[in-house]
Amino acid sequence: MKEINQATKQRIKEMISEMTLEEKVSMIHGNGLFRTEGIERLGIPPLVMSDGPMGVRKDYENDKWEDIGNTYDYSTYFPSNMALAASWNIDKAYEFGMAIGAEARGRAKDVILGPGINIIRTPLCGRNFEYMSEDPYLISKMVVPFIKGVQTKDTAACVKHFAANNQEFERLKINVEMDDRALHEIYLPGFKSAVEEGNSYTIMSAYNKLRGEFCSESDYLLNDILRKGWGYDGVVISDWGAVHDTEKAAKYGIDIEMNVTSNFDEYYLANPLLEKVRNGDIEEKVIDEKVERILGLMFKLNIFSEQRYRGCYNTSAHRETALEIAREAIVLLKNEENLLPLKDSSIKTLAVIGENADAKHSTGGDSAQIKALYEYTPLTGLSMRLGGNTKVKYAKGYSNDESLSPELIKEAIELAKNCDETIVVIGLDHNYDLEGRDRTDMKLPYGQDDLVKEILKVNPNAIIVNISGSPVEFEPWIDDAKVLVHSFYAGMEGGYAVAEAIFGDINPSGKLPVTFPKKLSDSPAHCIGEFPGEESVQYKESIFVGYRYFDSKDVEPRFCFGHGLSYTKFKYSDLKVNVIKGNQIEVKVSFNVTNSGKLAGSEIAQVYVSDLVSSFIRPEKELKGFDKIFLEAGQCKNVEITLDESSLAFYNDKESRWTYEEGDFKVLVGSSSRDLRLEETFSI
Ligand code: BGC
Repeated sequence: MKEINQATKQRIKEMISEMTLEEKVSMIHGNGLFRTEGIERLGIPPLVMSDGPMGVRKDYENDKWEDIGNTYDYSTYFPSNMALAASWNIDKAYEFGMAIGAEARGRAKDVILGPGINIIRTPLCGRNFEYMSEDPYLISKMVVPFIKGVQTKDTAACVKHFAANNQEFERLKINVEMDDRALHEIYLPGFKSAVEEGNSYTIMSAYNKLRGEFCSESDYLLNDILRKGWGYDGVVISDWGAVHDTEKAAKYGIDIEMNVTSNFDEYYLANPLLEKVRNGDIEEKVIDEKVERILGLMFKLNIFSEQRYRGCYNTSAHRETALEIAREAIVLLKNEENLLPLKDSSIKTLAVIGENADAKHSTGGDSAQIKALYEYTPLTGLSMRLGGNTKVKYAKGYSNDESLSPELIKEAIELAKNCDETIVVIGLDHNYDLEGRDRTDMKLPYGQDDLVKEILKVNPNAIIVNISGSPVEFEPWIDDAKVLVHSFYAGMEGGYAVAEAIFGDINPSGKLPVTFPKKLSDSPAHCIGEFPGEESVQYKESIFVGYRYFDSKDVEPRFCFGHGLSYTKFKYSDLKVNVIKGNQIEVKVSFNVTNSGKLAGSEIAQVYVSDLVSSFIRPEKELKGFDKIFLEAGQCKNVEITLDESSLAFYNDKESRWTYEEGDFKVLVGSSSRDLRLEETFSI
């Protein structure tokens, strides 16, 4: 973690003292769609930024949303943040961060505009795929190593979008209302960890309003919480076009105003700001502080040093990282009769059906898009994996041009009837998982339910693979399907990883970072809260987001948070819970996990805490620890997880502070939020 030492602080002060007011102001707003201005005479370069969470985006003209159109801005297409979260592997988060950080530097960027960590409040948010989870603890655990990884490569992470940006409908102006407990327990912790533990050098303020103030002009959010509360000394970058008022943005915490238009001098923090300083409405020291932070960032990134990390992109090592994460992100949702893994030797003909089997997703989604060097679709991956002894035959089955679907279904049925095995690849695409628009329902589009139903009639053993960045509804056919594999958008190697999982080259080990409800109306944002609101949206469900709601209110989801099967079996035993009372209370949780099956595999052991008696309303249980462990067949490992006072605490909104109450708590240990194998009560 790089800190600015006294000598550097002094140097920064001297640099600022040499700058004119105009030069300072030129550093705090966009002078290109993805860069600020530099000050050549002082040797200060522009600060260069790039989207986004799945890799380094293609290059644009400085002042137009037109591709430069070169051939050297291809880059590694990594799995989405949601896929990473489904791996629950914090080492992989660090490796992902290092790889994307290196690619950003390789493409001469200073700031990568990711990771995205807004809470998945509703299955419908168009940008869910760019975010990680419904659970703030899981987000915190994944985001910290990710940021640290990025920043080892002299690239700044830009964790986004701060805060409460949980829908795309009216994203530029919707006003979010929620109570203090929801804010502090659900919507802020990921950002707090990103700042306090991850030391994210930059943070992106959101478009929307919170409690009546634009997040990018909110004294409460940017000054009280972020700077004073969390001691943040990094740079706040506005989302592109999120600023609406010169004075508020200047005083309430924006360091760099970015926008989507090319009238750079007219940005709120450009000429209008200069004018306000000149006529005394805003003190020059407000600008000095921003420049100080920006220069601090530049020193942290070694921008003035010849030793600055050079970076590299499109390397085979980065593709390997993308593949390893894709493998660990696959979630085996259902596997009746152990139909998977398939045996390649017994398959002479394989029917692969569904547009998503042959669809590339890298170029979609808007700012998260990637100009990928290549992208293996499941069809390519399956064909590569199977080789010459199996004939892989493809039928589209459905199309985003829905008028074609009845014909396509007929053709697909014929194919399924005539092949030894059938794999149907369904799901969403970036017409649905998309920035700027939410879905209107949770159903599979393009007539896919009909397709799956018809295929299951002719082949009840058909393997169903769903690819989507958000929960979708499986109800019309789920009871008839024996096998369901899920992959979040998983990067350029994702299709190959799917093939490896289906044929057992890898043992699936991902778990859902988000609940898949049976139907939309079961989802708390929809049955208690509001969605999408009009001018305002009320988060009436409060802290009951995701499994916190489903478990507390006893609503059965289709697939619960933390769910994911394996080709082997894991046994849990020997739970010991030890309360150690020192200055701070610690609770040592220890248990054994044994691989009791015949194949090696990884298990994500999850530890939940339940507050049994409380004068405040608490969720039935909350995730407070997990460990991903690899076990050979027959092997047993001891897992130790230490809980601390934060694992017991809640936000006391009457006294505006985090606290816990003495009394009885329960530790629950298991394989998912609803497959709990061990429990023990302890008292504090
Ligand atoms: C998005 C950001 C993105 C920025 C720059 C905005 O519309 O909300 O996530 O980083 O554009 O492309």
